[in-house]
Amino acid sequence: MLKPRGVLVAGNWKMNQTVRETEQFFDTLRNEIPKLITEKDQSCLKDGSLRACIFPSYLSLAQAQTEAFKLPFPLSIGAQNAHWEKKGAFTGEVSGPMLQELGIEWVIIGHSERRQFFGETDLTVKKRTESLLEQGFKVILCIGETQAERQTGKTAEVLSRQLSSVFPESGSAASGSPLNPGLFIAYEPVWAIGTGVNATPAQAEEAHQLIRRFFKDRFGASASDRLPILYGGSVTPENMGDLLSCPDIDGALVGGASLKPVSFLKMLKWPLM
Ligand code: PGA
Repeated sequence: MLKPRGVLVAGNWKMNQTVRETEQFFDTLRNEIPKLITEKDQSCLKDGSLRACIFPSYLSLAQAQTEAFKLPFPLSIGAQNAHWEKKGAFTGEVSGPMLQELGIEWVIIGHSERRQFFGETDLTVKKRTESLLEQGFKVILCIGETQAERQTGKTAEVLSRQLSSVFPESGSAASGSPLNPGLFIAYEPVWAIGTGVNATPAQAEEAHQLIRRFFKDRFGASASDRLPILYGGSVTPENMGDLLSCPDIDGALVGGASLKPVSFLKMLKWPLM
């Protein structure tokens, strides 16, 4: 076992890569795998102690899914958002059953760009998280403070508010609670996203401990001990090792550095070096 809770390397492509570019990404990835990741190295990916996932745009999901099946090790494909209702008059939204038909099992919810630019609120994040967990998805729920909030010493308060709004009290329905093994948290400080300035391992570890303590206080040690917490914000192949050496960091949600096949593969290589 690489780490007690395993490791997840998740690539969030945001609004990048057309369908054609998605195909090209996977072509290059396949060509580079034998050079970068030996068959022996692939054992962690095959036994699930290291998991890889890519989140393309909705339009590229089907193509990415087809391409992922051609790889020599498992790589999951996920969606960057999904609605809480299963169908209906919600123009521009995509539902769980639509994703499930493509075999998609992963979804990101509450990314700070959704919160900042598209009116996502704590309440809609809660509705999406609960519904998608109940539908059997693996949900990466994103939280994180802005630069102003960190500078004014409000990091703990913001993280606690964002988590409390999704998990209001202990004993909520098991399917939508941290007891659900499909729940992953991503701590993504807004000031570190796309800026090239990552949180230091100490800053990230401190926030991850706060998050774990929140779950321990509300749901008990077993729920908090099993909960995988990813770090996101300017993760690269170069800083990945230092971040993942922290005990409470169980993986990374990576934007920019996941768009290039070689750099994505290098991040999978991290624990194998
Ligand atoms: P970044 O994005 O790695 O480009 O900073 C991370 C994210 O937004 O998930």
